[in-house]
Amino acid sequence: MTDTKKSIHGEWSSRFAFILAATGSAVGLGNIWKFPYITGENGGGAFVLVYLLCVVFIGVPIMIAETMMGRRGRQSPINTMETLAAEAEADTNWHYLGWMGVAAGFLILSYYSVIAGWASAYVFKAFFGSFSGADAAEIKGLFDNFVASPVQLIFWHTLFMLATMLIVARGVKSGLERAVRFLMPGLFVLMILLVGYAMTTGAYDQGLKFLFNPDFSKITGDSVLTAMGHAFFTLSLGMGAIMVYGSYLPKDVSIAKTAFLIAGSDTVVALLAGIAIFPIVFANGLEVGSGPGLIFQTLPIAFGNMTGGWLFGILFFVMLVFAALTSSISLIEPAVAWLVENKGLSREQACVWSGLATWLLGLGTVFSFNIWSDFKVFDRSIFHLVDYLTANLMLPIGGFGIAMFAGWVMKQRHSEQELQMSSAEGYQLWKFLVCYIAPAAVFLVFLNVVGVI
Ligand code: PHE
Repeated sequence: MTDTKKSIHGEWSSRFAFILAATGSAVGLGNIWKFPYITGENGGGAFVLVYLLCVVFIGVPIMIAETMMGRRGRQSPINTMETLAAEAEADTNWHYLGWMGVAAGFLILSYYSVIAGWASAYVFKAFFGSFSGADAAEIKGLFDNFVASPVQLIFWHTLFMLATMLIVARGVKSGLERAVRFLMPGLFVLMILLVGYAMTTGAYDQGLKFLFNPDFSKITGDSVLTAMGHAFFTLSLGMGAIMVYGSYLPKDVSIAKTAFLIAGSDTVVALLAGIAIFPIVFANGLEVGSGPGLIFQTLPIAFGNMTGGWLFGILFFVMLVFAALTSSISLIEPAVAWLVENKGLSREQACVWSGLATWLLGLGTVFSFNIWSDFKVFDRSIFHLVDYLTANLMLPIGGFGIAMFAGWVMKQRHSEQELQMSSAEGYQLWKFLVCYIAPAAVFLVFLNVVGVI
């Protein structure tokens, strides 16, 4: 393969553009909506610690591997896997890893869009003053009434899917790059502001303790799996999103450094969200384990009762919607890239079909909060099932495959050439992590969950 090969879908204009896009993909609902609620459900500190360890020892090396493989393959994850397998003289069945990623992307986006729809609706609730002066019970009532209405949820889900597909249709540069430039810094500033509010609640210390004082008695095999799965989810790993973004990366960019930067900012945003939310939870006597509604039941209290809260509330939910958009476009990009490469569709056509399929799937999540709330498969609602299947199973399995491929299947000279790390030790360390630590960790967690160890 020549070094000059470019993706047919275009290329990022600079290293900075890639960092923005990949950070945009990583930072999203996972950090602000999901991290706090699963931390609440899984007992706090110990869960956070496991998650952080997974980010460092599994997430970062796999992010380096995934970006590197994408850049070398230069195509949709399915075709990239096929090309790289051929290059390594390995079985081309490796491309099924790409297929699983595309499936995971569809499934995740189907519910992601519904939740992003909630955030969009909350922009308007904030604008019309629904939070102003409201107490915890009123805010909860507002949320419960909202999710009880399938019509409203479908409306917002539809709107969000349309926005996603419009951006994806415009392609790598004009669509994706521009969208992220201002949003990430803005979101960051607002998170700091919310932490400022949390400090005034009187339960700041209690919130911090909950987040950072590990109590290992609260952790089970399943919560370790959830923490590990979330490390994949929050860094957008294991399904080809980072791989496809890597395929648009110019040749001369240092992959390892960018991976650290992306994982670092992603983690900071998640921790800030936790630090902002839990003091509000404790100060208002709310339930830490109240589930997916957590941020919608807590942050509006802050906005309704702080000076300037009207404006900050609007800004916050606007930023959240944009953070979700920059993630959702990366969830569907692998599928769109494949449709363009293999089915001869235009980008626009590919967007219509994949958007429609995801939209339909999303109805399952919409209904699991209202008319189908009693319908359970394996004791889980459709939303919980899709979330478990993707974050806890498909992404770790995908990540395991990527680590194994980069570590064991790819020829050393190829990965070395592609990564061009400045130090030989750095490369060795990465190699050790993808060959042994990351796959072994995923494997052990799975064994533990199925009860073998
Ligand atoms: N990382 C995104 C978030 O935290 C979600 C995501 C997962 C995006 C997988 C792409 C791929 O919100």
